[in-house]
Amino acid sequence: MVNAVLLGHGMVANHLVVGLERIKKGDIPPYGVPLAKREIGVSIEEINIVASYDVDVNKVGKSAYEIARNVFKDTIPVPETLKDLVISKGVHLKSVEGMPIKTTSIDEEYDTLRDMVEYFIDEWRKHKPDVIVNMLTTEYGKTFDTLDALKAAIDNNEASSFTASQLYAYAAAEYAKRVNPVVFVNVIPVFLANDPAFVSLYESVNSVILGDDGATGATPLTADILEHLAERNRYVKFIVQFNIGGNLDFLALTIPEKNKMKELTKSSIVEDILGYDAPHYIKPTGYLEPLGDKKFVSLHLEYVNFNGLKDELYVNVRINDSPSLAGMVVDLIRLGKVVIQKGYKGTLYPINAFFMKKPGPIDAKSISKINAYSELLSFLGIK
Ligand SMILES: NC(=O)c1ccc[n+]([C@@H]2O[C@H](COP(=O)([O-])OP(=O)(O)OC[C@H]3O[C@@H](n4cnc5c(N)ncnc54)[C@H](O)[C@@H]3O)[C@@H](O)[C@H]2O)c1
Repeated sequence: MVNAVLLGHGMVANHLVVGLERIKKGDIPPYGVPLAKREIGVSIEEINIVASYDVDVNKVGKSAYEIARNVFKDTIPVPETLKDLVISKGVHLKSVEGMPIKTTSIDEEYDTLRDMVEYFIDEWRKHKPDVIVNMLTTEYGKTFDTLDALKAAIDNNEASSFTASQLYAYAAAEYAKRVNPVVFVNVIPVFLANDPAFVSLYESVNSVILGDDGATGATPLTADILEHLAERNRYVKFIVQFNIGGNLDFLALTIPEKNKMKELTKSSIVEDILGYDAPHYIKPTGYLEPLGDKKFVSLHLEYVNFNGLKDELYVNVRINDSPSLAGMVVDLIRLGKVVIQKGYKGTLYPINAFFMKKPGPIDAKSISKINAYSELLSFLGIK
């Protein structure tokens, strides 16, 4: 079995818990789970979601069944087994400030960061997680860079220096030190696997931190197209990539600081893959409510080909946003258990490179997802 805890019970979590239960019941095939056809040592059926945390008053105390029924109505069947998963109260640290969400959080009950960390350790002693997945609303956070600075910020109770993601990641490492090794998976655009402070912290407790920012929609597609062009020595003149969606995640990105964070995790692919920084505009551009979770993506680029001729490429798609990430999280949970069993610690580039937009550690390069997939299989010893 692999026990997983979820942080943030939003659209991705809804798709994850519902899709997972439906796969386990044999109702649907595991399409969208990248390694579903490979033998990696932990099956999808072994995944057990033991707890989920949120700070939205409309979610805390409700079951995952009730929340999913509200979201999906009659469009997707919601398994009754999800009645047993009740959403617990998380730490807020202003992560949804500026958004139309009324919050309830442990910040109201605990005065110090240290007390908040202890609260989560007690919680997780009950749930015994192997893997903790961070799926909160996008946050803007500064890196700590050194382990000393990170520890000092906790000791000095510098709450304003912490995002909720950083506090959860710190608490998970403390839990690992005292109870069991864990894998912390960060699929949101806040730097954790790209923060040397957190990588050192996880190394020191024989645990693993993976991240940052799940690579699902347009960005991996762009990365693979750029690799295609780079391999043929076609010179890319410019790239534009727009994203417009109507879910809460896109609404969050209308807050400039949060969008900046996303931009940082997305645009590193250009120079890393091409070897030069072709002018580019790659970022979520807007929120339009009627689009819902099915976002509109448009990609356009121009390149110079043999004999100086210019070609243009246009791609337009409408894609379901959250299920794409949920399918990848299924594998990240399984891989979490695999790497814990093998005794890895710190962060693991071969996993990050395939699953993340900004693969840690900090000096790591983004590579195309096609190349990253081959590297991932070699890392796992799969032919
Ligand atoms: N394809 C994708 O959907 C995709 C790809 C890459 C990254 N991401 C990232 O994944 C995250 C989740 O996406 P989503 O569509 O589910 O977003 P969402 O807005 O639907 O869900 C986020 C949830 O986190 C909760 N939350 C916020 N702060 C919290 C805190 N401090 N503690 C506990 N819960 C908290 C919110 O109340 C909400 O329920 C986002 O940060 C997004 O940027 C998504």
